[in-house]
Amino acid sequence: MPVHVTSHPMIQHKLTVLRRKETPPKDFRELVVEITTCMAYEATREFHLREVDIETPLMKARLKGVIENGIIIMPILRAGLGMVDGMLRLFPDARVGHIGIYREHDTLKPVEYYCKFPQEMEGDAIFLIDPMLATGGSACAAIEFMKTRGIPGSRIKFLCILAAPEGVAAVEEAHPDVDIYVAAIDSRLNEQAYILPGLGDAGDRMFGT
Ligand code: PRP
Ligand code: URA
Repeated sequence: MPVHVTSHPMIQHKLTVLRRKETPPKDFRELVVEITTCMAYEATREFHLREVDIETPLMKARLKGVIENGIIIMPILRAGLGMVDGMLRLFPDARVGHIGIYREHDTLKPVEYYCKFPQEMEGDAIFLIDPMLATGGSACAAIEFMKTRGIPGSRIKFLCILAAPEGVAAVEEAHPDVDIYVAAIDSRLNEQAYILPGLGDAGDRMFGT
């Protein structure tokens, strides 16, 4: 599946402000929400609509409306939580599951610690969200986990704000059936597997830890 880079000027502008080390947690959180909403527009470009009967003040009309699929938002804890409101602005009726995964500090391997999925997700479109795709370990583990629950990769769209080429390659190789939407792919990872130039630790900047 292709990697979609949402290069819209306003997303790029907001991303640059997000990266600045002076940007405080309050602004950081707001920017993450705004960027996520903009990215969600792009990621839903192919969605199907169905015809609905409505009445305008002037006449009855059959027009395109309500998206057919149900929408599931699946943030990877904890930084993915910051993107949930951005998604809900577009899909107020979406259901939200949670996958708790953190990157172990020394080994950089993903560790799962929490999982709560909505019931009956058959046919729903699933947005896995996490602002950062570095080595790809966390995203691959989350997708693997979803697949073991019977969710096909073709229904999963992974939305991240910033990625390293290494992480994109890892997800593409392990899960070629998953679409990736990203606002920017940076140049590389450093020795601690932080994205360069990046924005630092997204969770820490979001929650002030
Ligand atoms: C960050 C980020 C991703 C992960 C990306 O989370 O939000 O989940 O790192 O790195 P990877 O691609 O190498 O797996 P972190 O592990 O720092 O946990 P946190 O959200 O709780 O801070
Ligand atoms: N996780 C982050 O929060 N930032 C990075 O640069 C890499 C992983």
